Amino acid sequence: QSKSDHQLILMHEFAADMYHHILLNTEEGQAALDYLEDRGFTREIIEKNRIGWSLPEWNYMASALKRKGFSEEELEASGLAIAREQSSGYFDRFRGRIMFPIMNESGKVIAFSGRVLEHTKQDAKYMNSPESPIFQKSQVLYNVHHARGAIRKNRKIILFEGFMDVIAAGKAGVDNALATMGTSLTSQHIRQMKRFAQEVVICFDGDDAGWEAAKRAAIALNEDNFKVEVAVLPGKMDPDDFVRENGAEAFKEQIIGKPHAFIAFAMMHARRHKNFQYENDLLQYIQEVLQLLAGRSSPLERDLYIKQLSEETGLSQEAILQHYRKLENKTIERNRPETPAVKTVKKEPKRV
Ligand code: GTP
Ligand code: MN
Ligand code: MN
Ligand code: MN
Ligand code: MN
Repeated sequence: QSKSDHQLILMHEFAADMYHHILLNTEEGQAALDYLEDRGFTREIIEKNRIGWSLPEWNYMASALKRKGFSEEELEASGLAIAREQSSGYFDRFRGRIMFPIMNESGKVIAFSGRVLEHTKQDAKYMNSPESPIFQKSQVLYNVHHARGAIRKNRKIILFEGFMDVIAAGKAGVDNALATMGTSLTSQHIRQMKRFAQEVVICFDGDDAGWEAAKRAAIALNEDNFKVEVAVLPGKMDPDDFVRENGAEAFKEQIIGKPHAFIAFAMMHARRHKNFQYENDLLQYIQEVLQLLAGRSSPLERDLYIKQLSEETGLSQEAILQHYRKLENKTIERNRPETPAVKTVKKEPKRV
């Protein structure tokens, strides 16, 4: 670690302590503290995660850092302050936001994500630190430093979308939790995860974006030889919503405790938004599932899911198996992903 990286970390550590102090000990922090309490954050959770509040002032943090002796170059490099365009000087990137420090594997603060108190359409709900010499978004997962021990012990990672979900899971004693923070899972993330465990339960939000992201993550992790399971939430809830509505115990037992096998999840995903009254939907469904099975399933799995496909669609197991064999041969021949044989028919009305 270079000297300048070390300086950047010192700045983030200083800022985290200051935001945290403002949240817990000042009148200016009270509204944010009330908000967090409403959302079920205890004092212990706030302290463990070093959550804070950035004052809605133009350059409170920039001035404080300067007083600490950090230079203007360092201010800008850290991403905590932004140079003014018209005049000289700097203003704070984070103003009037609940501050979630993002830590590296050693627990040192390397970035922040700040949430607005009230989410209107004008403001982004979360604002993150920009990339910097100490923070590369594609390489950082939230909560690694806290979760590492629990992951090794459980031999399993529970992977969430957001830090709110990691924090909610912590209430249920689910400590082996990491989060992607909304970005897609990268190969660097996967490599890091591999160092800790070979098994993962993906638990993303129940909205469409969450289902799509879960499918992509499941495929990527499966290809990297993780044992992949997916825990699914009812409706459009996210894990934090579920914990608040049904309690931490229910979350642990009903959601985390009952994950779906990779292929079973892929089948659920493929069924979404399909209507088997339409033959195209039906054929597309079979195609999608067989594609996943081809080349990578055991004979037992193959039998199991072909039987299930037959039951769901009313087509004979023989016909489905025949189609599967064709796909499998092609997969072996070409050894690359197939393009679907069944064309997707857009259900949009014709434009006139
Ligand atoms: P709450 O609404 O506070 O419960 O947050 P959430 O965790 O449910 O957020 P959401 O499911 O919308 O997003 C998951 C993750 O994506 C968050 O933890 C953030 O890291 C990231 N994210 C969400 N919204 C934004 C945004 O507007 N900007 C950026 N940069 N990241 C976002
Ligand atoms: Mn800590
Ligand atoms: Mn989401
Ligand atoms: Mn969410
Ligand atoms: Mn949420």
